[in-house]
Order: sequence, then C-alpha cells, then structure tokens
Amino acid sequence: MCGIFGYYNFKISRNRKDILDFLFTGLKRLEYRGYDSAGIAIDGSPPVAAAGHGPGPQENGHALDPASPRSKRRKTDPVTLDTDTASITCKPLIIKANGKISALVELAYSELSETEQSLETVFDSHAGIAHTRWATHGPPSTRNAHPHVSDASHEFVVVCNGILTNFKALKDFLTKQGEVFTSDTDTEVIPKLCKYVYHQLTMPVSFTELVMEVMKQLEGAYALLFKSSRFPGELVACKRGSPLLLGIRDAPDEALGSRRLGHISDSLHRPAGDAFEAFLASDASAVVEHTKRVIVLEDDDVVHLCAGRYGIFNAGHQDRGSAVPRELQTLEMEVSNIMKGGYEHYMQKEIHEQPESVLQTMRGRVRFQTADKAVDPYTERRIVLGGLSEHLSTIRRGRRIMFVGCGTSYHAAMACRQAVEELTEVPVTLEVASDLMDRHGPIFRDDMCVFMSQSGETADTLQALSYAKKQGALCIGVTNTVGSEIARSTHCGVHLNAGCEIGVASTKAYTSTIIVILMMALALSEDSIRKRPLRDRIINQLSQLPDKIRTVLKLDNDMEKLALQLKDESSLLIFGRGVNYATALEAALKVKEVSVMHSEGILAGEIKHGPLALVDENMPILVIATKDRMYSKMHSVIQQLRARNARLIVVCNQGDADIAALVSPRCTLIEVPPAEDCLQPIVNIVPLQLLSYHLTVLRGFNVDQPRNLAKSVTVTEQHGP
Ligand code: UD1
Ligand code: GLU
Ligand code: MG
Repeated sequence: MCGIFGYYNFKISRNRKDILDFLFTGLKRLEYRGYDSAGIAIDGSPPVAAAGHGPGPQENGHALDPASPRSKRRKTDPVTLDTDTASITCKPLIIKANGKISALVELAYSELSETEQSLETVFDSHAGIAHTRWATHGPPSTRNAHPHVSDASHEFVVVCNGILTNFKALKDFLTKQGEVFTSDTDTEVIPKLCKYVYHQLTMPVSFTELVMEVMKQLEGAYALLFKSSRFPGELVACKRGSPLLLGIRDAPDEALGSRRLGHISDSLHRPAGDAFEAFLASDASAVVEHTKRVIVLEDDDVVHLCAGRYGIFNAGHQDRGSAVPRELQTLEMEVSNIMKGGYEHYMQKEIHEQPESVLQTMRGRVRFQTADKAVDPYTERRIVLGGLSEHLSTIRRGRRIMFVGCGTSYHAAMACRQAVEELTEVPVTLEVASDLMDRHGPIFRDDMCVFMSQSGETADTLQALSYAKKQGALCIGVTNTVGSEIARSTHCGVHLNAGCEIGVASTKAYTSTIIVILMMALALSEDSIRKRPLRDRIINQLSQLPDKIRTVLKLDNDMEKLALQLKDESSLLIFGRGVNYATALEAALKVKEVSVMHSEGILAGEIKHGPLALVDENMPILVIATKDRMYSKMHSVIQQLRARNARLIVVCNQGDADIAALVSPRCTLIEVPPAEDCLQPIVNIVPLQLLSYHLTVLRGFNVDQPRNLAKSVTVTEQHGP
C-alpha cells in the first residue's frame, strides 16, 4: 500500500527547497511499498504571526494538552491570530501528480516557479505532509491523489494510508450539508468532516481534540496526517490499524546547552520551545537516515506536533486529554540496509543476501556446536527461540498446528509441512488467509495458529489473526518486522531477523520463514528421543546452509543465459512434488509477479490428470528432481515428459548422472548441492529466484515495482457477515 511522510521543524530554519527535499526523500524511501500517484502539502508563505514561532496557544506552552482550557483556540479570539488572515496567508500549497515521484518533483518546481513561490523563503517552523497513494477507492489520477482538502481555501488538508469502510455514509451526510466532493476517494470525507465538525463546535477546540472528534466517526484501518490553516505550524497524526511511527531529532547539543534531556519517553517532559525536528512515516526506512530515535505509535494514538513539543494522546483512553507515555526506541537499521548496496535492484540484492540473512535468522537460536557439551548441560536443547520458550509445552499439547499466510508466506509453510508433522507428530493444516476468512473455517481453543507475514501488516492475515483470537486459539506470529501489527497482536512469535526486505517480490523472507518454521518444529520436538537422529541431522545441515546458498548463487550467469532463452516465451510450467511442490508454486509466483510471464506451479503427481495436455515440444517445462523422497517419482515424470519430446529444464543435484542420462542433450540442467529433504527447498528456490529476476530485466519490466502489486498488501476484501 501507500506511504505517508510528514516533516516538522521548529526553530530550525529551513528554506522551502530544504523542506521539499525532506518530503521528496521521504516519499522515495517509501516508494517500494507500491504507489500510483503522489502529492505534498506545504506552507504557501511564512505565517504572519510566525515571529512567535506559531500563534496563540503555542506560546503559552500548554498547547499539547487538549484538555487544558488554556490550550483552547477561540475561533473568534482576537488575541490569537486572526483566523481569516491565517487561512489566507497560510493557505497550504498542494501539489499532486499521477505516476512517479519524479513527476511530482518536476511538477512541484515548475508550479512553484510559475506562482513565484521562492525556494529560498525561510521557515523557522513548518509542517509539511506528503503521500504516495496505492488506490483503493477511485482510479489512480491527479484528482484522486492525496493530499485531500476540505475546500478551495485548504482549511483542512489530509493524507491517508488505508481504507475507510463507512465513507459512503459520511459522504452522503456531508453532501447533504452542501459539501462538494472533487475526488472518488474515501479519504476526502476526512478533511470535509474536519471542517464540518470545526464549524459545528460551539466550544473552542485544539487541533488534537478536533481530530479525535473526527476519528469517532471513522471506521476502517488508517493512518492520517493533518495540516490546517486554522492551526498554522501544527501537524497532527493519528492511526488505527495502519502503521505509523514518529522520529524525533533534537537540535545539535550546542543549541540546547544544559537543557538537553536524555531519552525522552514522554512528550510532556520535553521543554517547550526547544528547537527540534520530527518525522512521521509509514515505516522506518523513511526515517532512519534522519534519526534513529523513534516511537512506534499504537492504535488510536494521536500525535500533536506544535510549539516545539510532541504530544501523544490516545483517542481510546478515558482521559483523552492526558498524554500517554510511549517508549522512545533506538533503531538499529542502517541507511545502507535500505539502499541497493551495489546491486541494480533491491530484489537482486536480497537474493544475494540470503547466505547472510539465513544465518542472521539462526543466530543465537541454533546451537551448532556439540563441543560446548562440557560447559553447558543444556546442550541437548540446541534450538533456543526466546519468543516461544514459555509456550512450547502449550503448543505441544495443541490439537493441531494451523499455518495461515498469503502468497510467499503460505508457500514457506507448505515447504515445511512435512517436517513439522514428522518432528512434532501434531497434525498440520495450511490456510490461505483470505480463504480461511471466506469460509470462516473452524478454529478451536486448542488450535495453535501460526501467522506468517514478512511485513507483519498483511491485511488478510491480520483479519484471520483477529478471527483466530476470538475463537480462543493460541496465536503465534512469524514476521520480519519488529513492532508490526502481527508482532504486536500475536500471543508470541519469532522474528525472522532477515533484515529489511524492500523488493516487492519476497525472496530472503521466504527462505528465512522456512528456517523459522523448521526451528519451531525442532524446538517442539526436543523432548523426543526418537526424533533425535533426525533433529541432529537437520541442525547439522542448517550450519552448512549459508555455504550451499553461496554455491547456488554462483549459478547467476547460467540463470541469466537461461532467461535469455526463455524471455520471449508466453508461459513456463514448473513441476514439483513432495516438499518441492512448494518450490514449484513459489518459483511460478516469482516468475508471474515480477517478469509478468504466465507461469504455473504444478503438483507433479497430478500430471496425468490434465497438465499433460499442455505438453509439446515448444512449451518450456521446468522439473524439480533433486534427491529427496520424491526422486524416483520425479524420474518417471521426466520420462513421461520426454516421451512427448518436451522442452525440459531440470533442477537436480550436482553430478546426478542418472538424470543427465535420462534427459535429452537439449535439456538444461540446473545443478544444486544436496541437502536434507526439508532444507532442499531453500537451496532449490535460489536459482529460480535468479531466473525470475533475469527474466524480468530482459523482458524490460520494473523489478522492484511489479505491475499492479504492492509490497505490503494492507488492504483486504470484506469477509463474511
Ligand atoms: C529477542 C530480542 C533480540 C535479543 C534476544 C536476546 C527483540 C525484537 N528481539 O530475540 O533483540 O537479542 O531476544 O535474547 O526484542 N513476538 C510476537 N509475535 C511475533 C514475533 C515476536 O509476539 O510475531 C514476540 C516474541 O514472543 C518475543 C518477542 O516478540 O516475546 C521477541 O521475539 P524474537 O525477536 O523472535 O525473540 P528473540 O529471538 O528471543
Ligand atoms: N483509500 C485511500 C485512497 O484510495 C488511500 C489508499 C492508500 O492507502 O494509498 O485514496
Ligand atoms: Mg508478499
């Protein structure tokens, strides 16, 4: 879905060009999330009352407390800024463009120069907001792009990440009140509602109070940023169900002198009026280059940036006027983590990162060495999952383990199903999250439900999670994203620790999810003596996995050559069975989603029941025939395909003479190192990820922003009653 970004500076002079740079860089960092249009809102010219760094209540130092009578802004209060003047002088400038952020940048500079808004104009204090849109309501277009406004004077300006489920009723109501809508979006009701509520209230209100009033009327999942000519220099943000974080950057030490506070965790402890900057963003990748000090906001939180302070309130709290304490965390993510690091594309970088990312996933959790037996009596327990340790016995007693996910995450569970069943002897079921919700499939109190999502924001998976929770099941999360909705809403779980994944086509998260699930199964089986030989084998092989991945990555050039042969094809069939059925499905998904070529993963056991009809000498067919339990069955599949003179590509183990003898000379062999059955899918998928990457480049598609796809699918269809 889209991204939102806000930049607030207080007593730190920035000219208009600086402010634009902050906003555009923020948007560019978020662009991997998928978007179709973009826009910004900034101030037209410095507020008339800017001499005091913001007018009225900001000067009294109590503006952050919406309950405080001193913070109330009287609409007609002559002492505060003349609001009519404010709305004219502070009319936010809105610039929006369909398509790429570069188009927005170009348009912004040309519009500003045409309207003679100098880039040199300095703002001591300023609130700017920006948005990349992933359309849910109304087609991608300039008029549907955000920010949306209350009226022609831009009294209230809003950007939204998410969906309002009740926007129709609100739109009907506001239309009856005489409001005229200029877009097809759900979002436009929000600024209009702000204006309506603002003018209805007989009592003076602060910006946060107003937003809380508006939130009462909004249903759905969203994160919002607000700007208003009624509250110049202020920025308000709120969230419910969509991610949002606040980054804080103080002015350099010398500017603050002895008044600097250490780790401020509560806004109200911050001295009013000190110079600082704040960043609001859908995720850390847009903030990390500016500051590492962030607060992950919780549902119903409302952030108020004004007068050099940040206040966090919560619309769900009884005392909505009191600030809530939120932990100020230090991000460990580095800017280099989110840059392409020498590769052409994020997807390529992430494929090549897999030796490190799988190691990172296992680090501190898999105890490889048996040598420490002497010093560690617990050496038998060679898997340590901090997030699950207290829950293992409950999980072992469970009636079944249900894995729930979408797309790649679902495939990861599929690749491990057999190993989990074998190690735990607990029945395992797999559920595609949307299908589980479509059926409202039965879930019981003694079910153990595992929710997998790289981003931890996948809307379908979140819905299934909330459903499973209501049924009383133990909910376990497997996600790459600390602080994500899945991580926070599950009873326990395991982080992938695979590092930020930016490429829309998930690669390293796939292999790390498999490893996490295997580690879970190993931990669950640690009390079984019978399973020990299998456990030992798997654990020993886990230690060799990074090297095996390094070996398959050397096939990069071969995969590029193969891609060259396949690039003009219209279809690629991929056959696998057993654990490698998941590999076939995942490889086909990669080919589809990035290289925009039809591809289908087919269960090889089903070949006679239909797929054989597609086989001729032209259709490229990839067969996975590594030496796992399905090896001899895959032999017979290859024989059947050869009998039809099929154009074969076979993934097999290095030096497999039997396979080499079986296939025709024109067949391409992709030779990979052997591994334990449950680890072979990790080794096997890597060359196929490379193949889909090269296919995409050669076919001229955008690797990191596939057509019609977003990184985190945080939008879902409505399910059931
Ligand atoms: C944790 C720390 C890690 C530290 C290690 C030291 C975090 C995020 N991780 O890692 O920095 O080095 O201890 O022992 O602080 N959880 C969920 N749902 C999920 C994912 C996780 O509830 O989807 C919970 C877990 O149950 C756990 C916590 O989040 O309580 C952290 O999980 P995880 O990072 O996997 O734990 P460790 O590997 O122990
Ligand atoms: N629902 C809003 C729209 O369609 C916002 C979508 C988004 O999150 O980008 O405009
Ligand atoms: Mg995905």
